[in-house]
Amino acid sequence: HPGRIVVVGSLNADLTIYCERLPQPGETVQGNGFAVNPGGKSANQAVAAARLGGHVSLVGAVGEDANGNMLEASVAGAGVDVSHVRNSSEPTGVAVIAVDARGENNIIISAGANGTLSPADVAGAADVLDGAAVVSLCLEVAMPTVLAAAQAGHDAGATVLLNLSPYAHIPAELAELTDVLLVNAHEAALFLGPGASVPGADAHASQWDTVRERFAGRGIRQVLVTLGAHGSVVLDSEAAPGAQVTFVAPTRVAAVDTTGAGDAFTGAVAVRLAAGDALADAAAFASVAAALATTRKGTQAAYPEAADVERRLGTA
Ligand code: RIB
Ligand code: NA
Repeated sequence: HPGRIVVVGSLNADLTIYCERLPQPGETVQGNGFAVNPGGKSANQAVAAARLGGHVSLVGAVGEDANGNMLEASVAGAGVDVSHVRNSSEPTGVAVIAVDARGENNIIISAGANGTLSPADVAGAADVLDGAAVVSLCLEVAMPTVLAAAQAGHDAGATVLLNLSPYAHIPAELAELTDVLLVNAHEAALFLGPGASVPGADAHASQWDTVRERFAGRGIRQVLVTLGAHGSVVLDSEAAPGAQVTFVAPTRVAAVDTTGAGDAFTGAVAVRLAAGDALADAAAFASVAAALATTRKGTQAAYPEAADVERRLGTA
């Protein structure tokens, strides 16, 4: 029986307009469809993991409004334990999203109730955190809350998974508490700072090995770098020499909406790590799950089931 996954963080109502191309500053473009969908990086991670067979609890906050009800219905409907999703007097978090004809997006979030999630909420979720195998985090709630959750996960002996998104500088203490970091190439470059170039998708293992060493020097020994349509790279300082850099080939799909693909990736990694997979195997599985998630509009509603991923991987 795989261990419990506890996701601590955000829930948002996604207000999405689909358009031909994203507007430039000062420009108005014509949209061709609008939808309100359940989102938020943490709620997305939780739903992705549950859909893939994970045993998942979500710790978060929503407003007492229609968006909050929509989110609770989506998350609970996927089988996630929502006993630690509490109400707030602030409105439910909102994301305003534009998606273009290639499925690319830009997103603005307003924290609302997510901004009230505190270390006290983490303490109040001790019943689920104490037995966690994986604690999954992102940066859509306040840093002290993320830190408290990472500490609780670490103390429980769980694997602490952090998606460094939306990018923010993190305290050294949080880096030390993080077991597995998930970043895209942009976030990796920001984290490592000036002078540390992050190689392109066509780079050799030796170039990625330098990146691995830099992360390890910052206290992060396992890193998954997603490269969009180019796949992903696993940087594992815990693996034997020669097996510390692994490339995961992209899964070719016709993307219609890439929103939440990173959250699907994170949730899928959480599921496979909770089931005892090695990091590179978890990444290979997650890469397929994230690719399949882009073939449908929205985030939570678009996430695949384990059988879909296994069929694509050829393991079903
Ligand atoms: O990662 C995608 C998510 O980012 C969206 O669901 C939106 O709510 C923002 O949090
Ligand atoms: Na999608």
